[in-house]
Amino acid sequence: MTKIIAIANQKGGVGKTTTTINLGAYLAGGKRRVLIVDLDPQGNTSSGLGIVKDELSGDLYDVLIEGTPAAAVARPTAVDGLSVLPASNVLAAAEVELVSHARREFTLRDALTDLPYDYVLIDCPPSLGILTVNGLVAAHELIIPVQAEFYALEGLGQLVQTVQRVRKGLNPNLGLLGVLVTMHNGRTSLSTQVHEEVKRHFPDKVFETVIPRNVRLAEAPSFGKPILHYDKWSKGARSYKALAKEVMERSK
Ligand SMILES: Nc1ncnc2c1ncn2[C@@H]1O[C@H](COP(=O)(O)OP(=O)(O)O)[C@@H](O)[C@H]1O
Ligand SMILES: [Mg+2]
Repeated sequence: MTKIIAIANQKGGVGKTTTTINLGAYLAGGKRRVLIVDLDPQGNTSSGLGIVKDELSGDLYDVLIEGTPAAAVARPTAVDGLSVLPASNVLAAAEVELVSHARREFTLRDALTDLPYDYVLIDCPPSLGILTVNGLVAAHELIIPVQAEFYALEGLGQLVQTVQRVRKGLNPNLGLLGVLVTMHNGRTSLSTQVHEEVKRHFPDKVFETVIPRNVRLAEAPSFGKPILHYDKWSKGARSYKALAKEVMERSK
């Protein structure tokens, strides 16, 4: 059965895209078939996976609004077993156009049924609008990345409320797979304090794996590569490999 995991936090810059790309690459490296869905009109996930947007003949907009089958739009990547449903800035229009759709919250779920993947990872945009709601409705599980910085928990209440609203009506089975601390700096006590505070807020839900701040992770996307193909011995690479293992165990 396909396990669909949304990566969401309405705050920008917390590591959603970095997590989606690298978790996806390591899950695929573990011999799983993986599809990454780029639900953010900024399309950073797509370019980080080496997709040249000008050369695309279709993207997630066509899937959500025109009804093009996902299989016709999904593209292979340089990582064996890893494909992507790319996005470009036209997806921003879907945020508006979906509002008048019948089953507007279920459009992505409907589009992702019966696809030949073990994992589908959905990289959500930095908002709690209709696109993110589509991501949460399509998913079985949720990963919330939080950046190890002073305002880490700010805004999470709103996200948790949205998740509860989705569970009440649209997707009662949506589980919280885990909260992931990202950009952790082991040399500052602030990072450690934030980690402890996140654990207090989400008992038993915080991943053991912590993603360190690592410049190699920030460099890789400009080469269109996941860290696995850019610097697999870096600290960042090893942390995402460990996360993939944890995700496989938790999502069994
Ligand atoms: N662990 C990390 N170490 C260093 N830089 C990181 C790390 N994770 C993400 N970044 C960088 O921080 C910025 C925001 O990360 P990104 O994954 O795009 O966040 P989001 O998708 O939540 O907006 C990007 O420039 C990215 O390369
Ligand atoms: Mg992003």
